Order: sequence, then C-alpha cells, then structure tokens
Amino acid sequence: MEYKQIINMSDELMARINELLSHYPADKKKSAMLPVLHAVQDAHDNWLSLELMDKVAEILEVKPIEVYEVVTFYSMFNQKPVAKYMFEFCRTACCAIRKGEDLMDYTCQKLGVKQGEITPDGMFSVVGVECLGACGFGPMLQLGDNYHENLTKEKIDTLIEDCKQGKVNLY
Ligand code: FES
Repeated sequence: MEYKQIINMSDELMARINELLSHYPADKKKSAMLPVLHAVQDAHDNWLSLELMDKVAEILEVKPIEVYEVVTFYSMFNQKPVAKYMFEFCRTACCAIRKGEDLMDYTCQKLGVKQGEITPDGMFSVVGVECLGACGFGPMLQLGDNYHENLTKEKIDTLIEDCKQGKVNLY
C-alpha cells in the first residue's frame, strides 16, 4: 500500500539541511545522509514517503536506492505514517530474558492493537525493534528520543496515562 504525504521543504528545513551539509566537503554530500534524513523526517510527521526519499536523494546528489538502503536498514526511520506515541520495545536478548516481549504484549492488549497497528485515534502504536543499546536496563522501550527503562506493567500504565494527558515530551 502506498501512503500519500504532503511534502513541505520549507525555507526553515532547507536552512537546516544546508547547515548540516556545511559540515561536509561539497563533493561528499552523501556523508550527511543520516542527519539530513532525521531533519526531513522530523519536519514530516515522523515518516518518509518514497517521494520524500527521492527528494533527499536529489539534495544529496545520490541515487534514490542509496537513500532507500539507509531508510530500510534503520528502525528510527519510518516508511509509513506512524502514531504520535510510538512505543518501540527492544526485543533483543537481554530485554527478552527480562520479559520484554510479555510487556510488549501487555501494552498491545491495553491499547487494543497488534504490533505495528495504530490506535484509531492515531495516538499510539507498538512496535518491536532490535537492541537499543540499553541492555543493562531492560526491559526497555524508546518513545520519541527518550528511553524508558526497567519497565514494569505499572510503569507502562503510567506512561500511557501521561501520554494521554500530554505530559510526555517526545523530543
Ligand atoms: S537487549 Fe534491549 S537494549 Fe540491548
């Protein structure tokens, strides 16, 4: 399924991209791909359509496939619309040993969604991702730019409630 996205390469976004590009040699624009993709995604409701990835390729003067390769490799880039609050549960070994998958199932049940689905109000989704580098603090999840560690059902309940009340900063 192809999702439609309104593309807005605003002056503000282009200024941010140009600032990022200024850190790299003019003939090595590709080196700025990760920060540029983050900036573009942040300005487009946290996801990147094919059309938007093509735009990034044009700016970086690379082939579109080189952008697709990066976007499809990293879980921090989204290729379809996402919920406002996307609970990204680590499902790798250390978190799994400490029942991370059970907590992910608990969260899905509580929100009435399956993994990868978005609640009808567009507020929540639950996804499993690979190790997020906080292995000593599992089970854990990422929400926006922030980590929530040593999770319990009670912590999940509080986090969901705080999101509903707009008390959670994502960035
Ligand atoms: S195994 Fe979960 S953060 Fe590394």
